[in-house]
Amino acid sequence: MDRDKITKRISADLKYLKEFTATPGNGCTRMPFTQETRYAAEYLKKIMEDAGLEVREDCVGNVFGTLPGEDRSLPCVMVGSHYDSVYNGGDYDGIAGVISAVELARLLQDEGKRLRSDLVVAAFMDEEGCRFGTGYFGSKCMLGQMTVEECKHYTDKDDISVYDAMTEYGLVPENLKDAAWPEGSIGHYIELHIEQGPVLDANQIELGLVNCIVGIQRYIVKVQGRSDHAGTTPMDMRQDAVNMAAKVIGKIGDMAKAEGSGTVATVGYMKVTPSAMNVVAESVDFSIDIRSTDNAIIDKIASQIWAELDRETQATGASWSADSKLTITPVDLSPAMLDIMEESCKEHGYSYLRMPSGAGHDALAIGQSLDTVMIFVPSKDGRSHCPVEYTPYEAFSKAIEVLYDLINRV
Ligand code: GLV
Ligand code: MN
Ligand code: MN
Repeated sequence: MDRDKITKRISADLKYLKEFTATPGNGCTRMPFTQETRYAAEYLKKIMEDAGLEVREDCVGNVFGTLPGEDRSLPCVMVGSHYDSVYNGGDYDGIAGVISAVELARLLQDEGKRLRSDLVVAAFMDEEGCRFGTGYFGSKCMLGQMTVEECKHYTDKDDISVYDAMTEYGLVPENLKDAAWPEGSIGHYIELHIEQGPVLDANQIELGLVNCIVGIQRYIVKVQGRSDHAGTTPMDMRQDAVNMAAKVIGKIGDMAKAEGSGTVATVGYMKVTPSAMNVVAESVDFSIDIRSTDNAIIDKIASQIWAELDRETQATGASWSADSKLTITPVDLSPAMLDIMEESCKEHGYSYLRMPSGAGHDALAIGQSLDTVMIFVPSKDGRSHCPVEYTPYEAFSKAIEVLYDLINRV
């Protein structure tokens, strides 16, 4: 296989797609249902068409390209990832997996080959959940797991709901059910992704064969206190939302540390209202993201946080509430597909490691019900979800070679 050709083709695509960001010069910001996702979707459709695929964008913004197989009645092999990003993220998270999937179709076309079943290249809308706090929107719609009511419920920082954002984007949220694929139509799901952590790079390992993905719970908590004069209200007569929230937030990292075994918990977003120097805060909204390969640990940490919130708010007569944004359990990935990839790594002489994923992926949502696997390429210094995210293009070509073997053998 001509790895230089692969590297050249995917680097051209990835360089082009870099331009579709709302924050030029400061990383990739491609929020769902924005001009940036529109431009990226159009580019993806074009290169899928150029690769001779049957292309369609579904009613929620997922883009699919199909290379017909020898027997179209068989469940398809789907390969893909997402094409949205976090705020000021990197140029590889998600989109590199989509482009690598397109490249697999091109390689089959170059050789005039067909798989037994259809090969479907998938580019999912809104995996990150950054804008609406949710996650896996496109893949969940494909699985028939999203409702119009949820689209109305979840809102972004400007109080725009998924429903309104979709409408503004030219989609009809009421049609959401049409995005669901018939049961049994997808045989295998395969996703290539950058590792987004330091393990492969630090150990100079070329490829990661992902054997499980953490479960995740996400919440937005509101601590409701009372706004008062910062100079005149004695300390023991306040319902200071910042003080209460900060005490709880300060313990969340320690709760995760105490569990060990890769458990993490993050508060990455906070909003103070009214947010003024001389006003005791009326309320604080903050996010919680808890992850572990053991679901019982996630539940335990969530309960500990609720208990701390009870304690702090009851002490002052304040209150709190939590809006659940995401609950998804850990998954083990396909042992059979892992074995095929391992065999392929050995044949090509690539170093590899079977490893868990601490990041969430469309494969986490899809792997709950379908035969699923992932392959990782190293991230330089483990950096990701930031503008310096970097993986040399040649690294992807090795993973693409292994996936080419996989789709032909599965
Ligand atoms: C997505 O990258 C996530 O892990 O949150
Ligand atoms: Mn990400
Ligand atoms: Mn991703």
